[in-house]
Amino acid sequence: MTRTKSRRSDGPAPARLLLAGATGVVGRAVLALALADARVAQVVAVTRRPLPPHPRLDNVVGDPAVLAGDAECWRVDAVICTLGTTIAKAGSRAAFAAVDRDLVLRVARLARTAGAGAFALNSSVGADPRSGSFYLRTKGEAEAGLRDLGYPSVTLVRPSLIDAERAENRPGERAGLLVARVFRPLIPARYRAVSPEAIGRALLEGVLAAAPGVTAIESEDLA
Ligand SMILES: NC(=O)c1ccc[n+]([C@@H]2O[C@H](COP(=O)([O-])OP(=O)(O)OC[C@H]3O[C@@H](n4cnc5c(N)ncnc54)[C@H](OP(=O)(O)O)[C@@H]3O)[C@@H](O)[C@H]2O)c1
Repeated sequence: MTRTKSRRSDGPAPARLLLAGATGVVGRAVLALALADARVAQVVAVTRRPLPPHPRLDNVVGDPAVLAGDAECWRVDAVICTLGTTIAKAGSRAAFAAVDRDLVLRVARLARTAGAGAFALNSSVGADPRSGSFYLRTKGEAEAGLRDLGYPSVTLVRPSLIDAERAENRPGERAGLLVARVFRPLIPARYRAVSPEAIGRALLEGVLAAAPGVTAIESEDLA
C-alpha cells in the first residue's frame, strides 16, 4: 500500500490514519468518527479481532506487540492510540504496564520511524510519572515516553471516567459511573464522566489539526 500523496486544492492532504485499539469503547467511537470524516482518506486499524469491513478501512488483524517493525501498517501520517487494559484484566501490574505503557510506546515508536508526524493518546485524568498511584504513574510514563519520540505533534487526551456500558464486568467502574451520573452537577468538571464520542472527537481533531508540540486536553474540556 502506498501513502496518500494527492492534495486537494481547498485544503491539506487527506490523512492516512493508524488506529490502535479500535475494538475498545473509545476506539470504536474514533473509528466511526474517522470513517465518516472526509479529511481522512484511510483508516488502518491494527486489531486482534476482525472489524466489520468498510471501503476506507484497512483492518490488519494481528497482535501489535509482535507485528514486524517494517510492516506497511506503520507507514501512516498520524496515529490515534486507544489501547488499554486494567490491572484486574491483565492479571498483574507488570502485565498492565506492558499494555498501557510499553505497547503504546511500541506502536508510537514504529509509526514515528516509518514517518508519522502526529500522535494522539487516550491517556487519563491525573496521568503523572511521579504519581503515587501505580495506574496514574504508568499512564504518566506512557505520556513521558511519547514526548521523547520526536513527534512534531502530540495530543494527550486525559479523560475522567468513561461513560459507557460494557459487556465486561468492572464492578468498581460501574459503581463509580452510577455515582458520577446521579451527582453529576455536584462533581467538579474535571472529574465528571465523559462520553467515548467526546474523547474520540478530541483525539481525531488532535491529529488532524496536528498543532506543533505537545497539547494536553483535560477532561473538563471534552464536550
Ligand atoms: N475506563 C475508564 O473510565 C477510563 C478512564 C480514563 C482513561 N481510560 C483509558 O482509556 C483507554 C481506552 O479505554 P477503553 O475504555 O476504550 O478501553 P477498552 O474498551 O478496554 O479497549 C481497550 C482496547 O485495547 C486493546 N487491547 C487491550 N489489551 C491489548 C493487548 N494486550 N494487545 C493488543 N490490544 C490490546 C483492546 O483490544 P481487544 O478488543 O482485542 O481486547 C481494545 O481494543 C485506556 O487506556 C484506559 O486506561 C479509561
